[in-house]
Amino acid sequence: MKKTFYITTPIYYPSDRLHIGHAYTTVAADALARFKRLTGYEVWFLTGSDEHGQKIERTARAKGMTPKEYVDQIVASFKHLWASLDISYNDFIRTTEERHKRVVQAIFQKLYDQGDIYKASYQGWYCTPCETFWTESRLVDGKCPDCGRPVEFTQEESYFFRLSRYADRLLRYIEENPDFILPPSRRNEMISFIKGGLEDLCVSRTTFDWGIPVPFDPRHVIYVWVDALTNYVSALGYGSDDDELFRKFWPADVHLVGKDIVRFHSVIWPIILMAAGIELPRQVVGHGWLLLESGKMSKSKGNVVDPLVLIEKYGSDAVRYYLLRELPFGADGYYSEEALVNRINTDLANDLGNLVSRTLGMMEKYTGGRLEDPGPVEGVDEDLIELALQTPTAVEELMDRRELSAALAAIWRLVNRANKYVDETEPWALNRDPARRERLCRVLYNLAECVRFIGVLVGPFMPRTPERIWRQLGIADRPDLHTWESLRWGRLPAGLTVRRTEILFPRIDPGSLG
Ligand code: ME8
Ligand code: MG
Repeated sequence: MKKTFYITTPIYYPSDRLHIGHAYTTVAADALARFKRLTGYEVWFLTGSDEHGQKIERTARAKGMTPKEYVDQIVASFKHLWASLDISYNDFIRTTEERHKRVVQAIFQKLYDQGDIYKASYQGWYCTPCETFWTESRLVDGKCPDCGRPVEFTQEESYFFRLSRYADRLLRYIEENPDFILPPSRRNEMISFIKGGLEDLCVSRTTFDWGIPVPFDPRHVIYVWVDALTNYVSALGYGSDDDELFRKFWPADVHLVGKDIVRFHSVIWPIILMAAGIELPRQVVGHGWLLLESGKMSKSKGNVVDPLVLIEKYGSDAVRYYLLRELPFGADGYYSEEALVNRINTDLANDLGNLVSRTLGMMEKYTGGRLEDPGPVEGVDEDLIELALQTPTAVEELMDRRELSAALAAIWRLVNRANKYVDETEPWALNRDPARRERLCRVLYNLAECVRFIGVLVGPFMPRTPERIWRQLGIADRPDLHTWESLRWGRLPAGLTVRRTEILFPRIDPGSLG
């Protein structure tokens, strides 16, 4: 049986269109999913939309629509964006679907029946943009400590979930599984958060009704975060007649989220699962934020960057490359269009594009576009070949540590090594000397084989690029040469005809940015 890999993105709020920050999470999850498929795993990749709650209800009302009418059109825009970015998700879950609501209610009922949920009166503060409860003492200058926006006082009869009952078990799990929360800085934050003492969580609301009703007390709707987190199992058919996916893919290998919601995923979600008697996910990865000079991008600040505009201008592979390369693992990074154009011109046009175009161009000029039988390997070749052979392993290790930017850097070391190899071997000089014909063929062969390796390696990050390389390299109809297993030196068969037909990544005039 194939090894399985289950990866999820957060389910985004359809309160507005998505910006480049959301695109970052989903593109990173997609690269991991594609990489695992390439390396032989059976992958389930889930994304979706978090459609309930006070925020959505209010936004819809302000637009004069019902919540459902409102979210339907926004969810359509999510799917359009994911298609434009070549996101290869296997399922898209909406929390307004029956298959989801049933599971949320069943888990809530179970927790109530076993005494983990009880009724009491809530009095405190609520941040609607974050959909988060806060006690007075946690507020900063009377505002939400997470987003800095105003909070509202709420007083209502509510159900509470006994988080504290499970705190010790959760701490033990985190301590016994050092890779459960990545990066380590987030893990340490969570450990001190739990050690600071967990208060019971308010898990129902009565002051609005856009949510899933509490099954035994329908005046209450279930707290939107309890509703939302459950998507990761409801989408697999947990607790339904057809739970084959759940049995096959649970526990999740990676919940990929932004650092803003690590706490929900590594404290509240595991405790819900423990209480429900479900295995815990293997890993929660909290990545950094994409910032603007003017601060964190946010829908309410109105300083958002629309990924569709960038895709239209630069192409989806270039946008994906930029996002994945620019943010070091776990850290924040600044977005700017200048930096995006700079990456395109340097890494894609200069380094990768140039390597491919030089290799094909020299073959067209020196051997009539034919890949000739290579002569023997020499010292200078060995260094290049060794690096090419080490790169897949290096990339796999980095991907397993979720270090996507470092994995791209490792691929680019090979790109740059191959470019340097051209300068070292000077094929144009070899071409002038008929006695060195065999040597010339070896050099060109090595370059073509490097291009093939790089084509396979970049696929998970830039899914449209390999095809464009295969067509020019004359191996579009040789899927056996596109696989991970084919990354052994010397698979490229002599006799192929290459053709330089397109520039992979044309240079962009930085002056055109205005
Ligand atoms: O929190 N930089 O949804 P949401 C990087 N519905 N990533 C960013 C970002 C930025 N500037 N802005 C947003 C929710 N993100 C809940 C999730 S999951 C059960 C429920 C990404 O629409 C990042 O992944 O507010 C963050 O965690 C997510 O979008 C929040 O999306
Ligand atoms: Mg948010």
